[in-house]
Amino acid sequence: MPFVIEPMTQDDVQEVSQVERRCFTNPWPSSAYRRELRDTEHNYYIVVRWRPPHTGVPDERPRGGLHLLPFVRRADPAKPPILGFGGMWNMLDEAHITTIGVLPEQRGRSLGELLFVTMIDEAIRRRSRWVTLEVRVSNASALALYEKYGFTRQGLRKRYYSDNGEDAHIMWSPALNESPTLESLAGLRATLGLRLARWHDSPNGAVRSP
Ligand SMILES: CC(C)(COP(=O)(O)OP(=O)(O)OC[C@H]1O[C@@H](n2cnc3c(N)ncnc32)[C@H](O)[C@@H]1OP(=O)(O)O)[C@@H](O)C(=O)NCCC(=O)NCCS
Repeated sequence: MPFVIEPMTQDDVQEVSQVERRCFTNPWPSSAYRRELRDTEHNYYIVVRWRPPHTGVPDERPRGGLHLLPFVRRADPAKPPILGFGGMWNMLDEAHITTIGVLPEQRGRSLGELLFVTMIDEAIRRRSRWVTLEVRVSNASALALYEKYGFTRQGLRKRYYSDNGEDAHIMWSPALNESPTLESLAGLRATLGLRLARWHDSPNGAVRSP
């Protein structure tokens, strides 16, 4: 598996900001990430990195819990480049995905889905019952990703995005503590694991056709 998910650290902020500027027209100031990272009780921020095969970092398989993707590892001393990032707030029984982005040239390789499912798993681990997020009404790829995971459009925030006045769909997950949701998640996670494992053998394999 050539990819690794790690918690975002203060040392990552500059690189995350560079990646973010290639993902969004209205990026956060880096001070916002620095602030978010100070409150790890309520906030969860992650990065996905390319992990060159020669680093030989052993798997750190999670001990129990709901982190079922076997390639979620910790601190790689080689610090290969960040390919994508994601973030979430947790409050009471709700989690709010605040951001998710993958470098344009790395899209279509399931990295966005890996980031997304890692955040959902963490929300479950933190006993959140629902996950919510906002998404531009024109953002077809993000909408498809969220709908794949059973998220539904529950409302509209008019002119939510200040750069172009675009509306946002407010989306909510299905209840995360119910068996059908957990079963569906397990199936999606298994398929994602198989897809990502294929990159191990062909890390420069074809990207999704436009
Ligand atoms: C949204 C984003 C994170 C998806 O990342 P990605 O790595 O390209 O997505 P994945 O390869 O993991 O695809 C996962 C699912 O997303 C959806 N998807 C991704 N790209 C898509 C596309 N071009 N067209 C339609 N659906 C797409 C599909 O449902 C896909 O599942 P499938 O392969 O089974 O069809 C990425 O496009 C991105 O960074 N966009 C810019 C930032 C952004 O808009 N973030 C969302 C803010 S709300």
